[in-house]
Amino acid sequence: PTIFVLNGPNLNLLGLREPEIYGSDTLDDIAGQLEDRAQALGLSIDMRQSNHEGHLVDWLHEAQATGAKAVLLNAGAYTHTSVALLDAIRSITTPVIEVHLSNPHTREDFRHVSFVGRAAKGTICGFGATSYLLALEAAAQL
Ligand code: DQA
Repeated sequence: PTIFVLNGPNLNLLGLREPEIYGSDTLDDIAGQLEDRAQALGLSIDMRQSNHEGHLVDWLHEAQATGAKAVLLNAGAYTHTSVALLDAIRSITTPVIEVHLSNPHTREDFRHVSFVGRAAKGTICGFGATSYLLALEAAAQL
């Protein structure tokens, strides 16, 4: 079984970008940690990143079309703006787990709204790179 791990805008700069908020691990570091854990769980990881909203929509459709077991989705700032992502999650039956490195609830008001969260199976936020690993554990149980 495959778990899609979809990452949105600016996450390609992880490790360099506001490290006091997002930590020093790069997205490749996180991919490595996820792959190790996935192997132990008998799962495989398909990890992707795009700065373009429509790519994330296409990849959600692809998760369904290819029979992925679940999607871990860190949509970055599109979390707080994208009705298209909300509709895409509602358009598929593949469970989507919302992931954030930071805890958006403790940050600016505009981060308190999550369009992704309205359709996600659940949300894990605030634990840095560990948020992804916790979401993988949850996905394995689905
Ligand atoms: C984020 C939180 C979002 O508010 C922000 O726009 C990001 C990263 C996180 O992982 O903490 O780009 O999704």
